[in-house]
Order: sequence, then C-alpha cells, then structure tokens
Amino acid sequence: MTQVQVRDLIFEKFITAAEIDSAVQRVADAINRDYAGKNPLLLAILNGAFIFASDLMRKITIPCEISFVKYASYSGTATTGKVRELIGVEEGLNGRHVIIVEDIVDTGITMEELLKEIHGKGPVDVKVACFCFKQEAFKKSFPINYLGMSIPNDFIVGYGLDYNGQGRNLPDIYKVKKEI
Ligand code: IMP
Ligand code: MG
Repeated sequence: MTQVQVRDLIFEKFITAAEIDSAVQRVADAINRDYAGKNPLLLAILNGAFIFASDLMRKITIPCEISFVKYASYSGTATTGKVRELIGVEEGLNGRHVIIVEDIVDTGITMEELLKEIHGKGPVDVKVACFCFKQEAFKKSFPINYLGMSIPNDFIVGYGLDYNGQGRNLPDIYKVKKEI
C-alpha cells in the first residue's frame, strides 16, 4: 500500500486517480444530460474544489460558466463548526441554474450556509455536485444531487483536499493512517 507523509501525519492510498476520473465522468454525464440548453453556472468553493471543478468543467460538453466563492471551516483535521465567508458570490444569480461544486461534504455546515446565501439571490434552481460525501458525519438534510463517491468518516488528502494547506497536489486520494 503506497504511503505518503503530509506534515506530521502518514496517509495511505485510498482512491486512485483512475477511479477519481471515472467518478468525475459519471457526474459530468449526468450534468450534460440534465442541463442541456440551460447554460448552468458552476459555483466552485475555494480552495478545495478547484481541482474537481476544473476536471468536471472539462468533461461538461454543453455551454456552461464558472465562478468561485471561498469559505473556510476546517482547522487541522477537524471542523471548527463555524463557517467564515472569505469571498462571497459576486455574480448576479437571477434566472441562473446554479450548480455548487464542492470537494467534500462532511458535517454539511459549510454547504448549508452557502445554500442559504445563494437561494436569496434569485436563481431558478440550485443543485449540489460534490466529489466526496462522509455520510456518517453529515448533520444536515439538504440533498446532494450529483455525487462522486461516498466515503467513511476518515480524514483524507489529495485531489485538492488538504491537511493544513498541504497535500492538495496529490493526484490520488489518501486517508490518514497514524500520527508519528
Ligand atoms: P463541513 O462544513 O463539515 O461539511 O466541511 C466541509 C469542508 O471541510 C470542505 O469544504 C473541506 O474543505 C473540509 N473537509 C472536510 N473533510 C475533510 C477531509 O477529510 N480532508 C480535508 N478537508 C476536509
Ligand atoms: Mg472545501
């Protein structure tokens, strides 16, 4: 099993780049089917979702646009339970079909905040596309309309996901093994 060290933690390979690619393709296929003729606006959440968003957008074959918002809730390997808005929604969303693009939904606190804000800006509809979902940690009830994969409640890095800023550049996804 391939291992990597990120800061003080050891991680083991969990989801390969090839498995990630197939999952992203499935999400893109569904969006291509559901949004034909609708010019959806992808709203990606920085920092973590930038790699998923860029892979997803390049697999979307219908006209679409992208914009970014920045929210933060994590410190180290745990959520702080508080969400801070660092860059808000700048676009007019009136009449738009919005697809929020997120790397991972954990407790769901971040996404719920963003959903509240976006619904107030007059979009036709708002859907959630998320690469990973930690079902056991989820405390909310909003639907995840497009999902890459469900994962156990382990801390992961790679494919845009970080441990205190590091590990985002790993092409595969790794889960935490042990502290050293
Ligand atoms: P939530 O608000 O608890 O759903 O947390 C969502 C945010 O926490 C995501 O946008 C990620 O940035 C971060 N996050 C949650 N789980 C992990 C993880 O396992 N690794 C890295 N970041 C994570
Ligand atoms: Mg994130």
